[in-house]
Amino acid sequence: MEGLHERELRVLRGPRFAWWCLQGRQDRQGHAVRDLPAAARGRALNVRSSALPDFPWDLLEPAKAIAAAHSGGIVDLSVGTPVDSVPPAVRQALADSSDAPGYPLTAGSPALRAAITGWISRECHASGEFGVLPTIGSKELVAWLPTLLGVGPGDVVVIPAVCYPTYEVGAKLAGAEVVRSDSLTAVGPDPRVKLIWINSPSNPTGRVLPVEHLRKVVAWGRERGVIVVSDECYVSLGWESEPVSVLSDEVTGGDYSGVLAVHSLSKRSNLAGYRAGFVGGDPALVGELLAVRKHAGMIVPAPVQAAMVAALNDEAHVAEQRVRYAARRDMLRTALVKSGFEISHSEAGLYLWATRDEDCWATVDRLARRGILAAPGAFYGPSAAKHVRIALTATDERVATAADRLAEPFTD
Ligand SMILES: Cc1ncc(COP(=O)(O)O)c(C=O)c1O
Repeated sequence: MEGLHERELRVLRGPRFAWWCLQGRQDRQGHAVRDLPAAARGRALNVRSSALPDFPWDLLEPAKAIAAAHSGGIVDLSVGTPVDSVPPAVRQALADSSDAPGYPLTAGSPALRAAITGWISRECHASGEFGVLPTIGSKELVAWLPTLLGVGPGDVVVIPAVCYPTYEVGAKLAGAEVVRSDSLTAVGPDPRVKLIWINSPSNPTGRVLPVEHLRKVVAWGRERGVIVVSDECYVSLGWESEPVSVLSDEVTGGDYSGVLAVHSLSKRSNLAGYRAGFVGGDPALVGELLAVRKHAGMIVPAPVQAAMVAALNDEAHVAEQRVRYAARRDMLRTALVKSGFEISHSEAGLYLWATRDEDCWATVDRLARRGILAAPGAFYGPSAAKHVRIALTATDERVATAADRLAEPFTD
């Protein structure tokens, strides 16, 4: 625990596992959930999900049906799911490790820990002593991090005004309150704030936070004992500006106290199906995550750990994938601009953040009639209601088809 601020310690020691408390209450009353009458069972099982936002993707189904009815087939640019192959060396590493009868290490194999440490040092330009921990994907970590760190009811988690929806989900699973803000001044001196998420390059906007901004957030967090967590899963995809990790010497000067960076191999190495991520930063915070996870599990499977080692020790496949995305990005960007869209931010990451200065659902419908599915900005925050998010994750053929369709005049 050395190196933690007093308030961080209180967060870590504070009420944990609201879900566990609920289970405990039921157990003490002597009822297994399956023994409850249907209505009560429904109540017990709905407690968590009813605190969460509606699952937004269901709302996109009507537009998806319209796009799917296009004679040339749908071009689905609504989700950022990789479509290119897993690099052969990574698949080989997975296959070579498939005889894995024993439990893997929660902390990661020595080879994986060394690979993560080496990668963070090289790619994030971090020269100090940071902690590392592999995670099952990074969505899973984002969703459970506040809970794992002891953030709970009465606490506040600050998330970007327009952002990846799972930050809100994670705060709500922990029972905490969510404040959306990009401005530290607007957050003010609220002592309930325990954790702040930043995301650079951003999903959905593609915005990159400059070094000075990152420094300010870290300093602000340290002054208040607020844990700063930076989601950097698109860090290898800078186009018009170079993304900087919160762990870089330029930001932290090698002192990682109160700071964590979350990384993923999903986009960088086309490993979304493997569920491979990791977290690095403050050794005390990472140690606490490991201590909880030793009890709670969520262990990365041994073959996936071996695949991660192969992926992290090779940058050639990352460079090849970048070239594919750069070509798709150019084609889509040009076609969108020609057809009257304005592109905001989008200087990095896997998406084009586009607007026709109209309600995002009107744009989604227009595109759907052309057989193109985009994600409405409204999924990412109330202030994004006039944007749509266009993913670069489609095959070259589908991207070229989308560009052709965008060339037809937008008269409807
Ligand atoms: C900003 C951001 N963070 C985290 C994730 C989760 O990625 P994964 O769980 O595949 O590592 C995503 C996925 O799209 C994302 O956009």
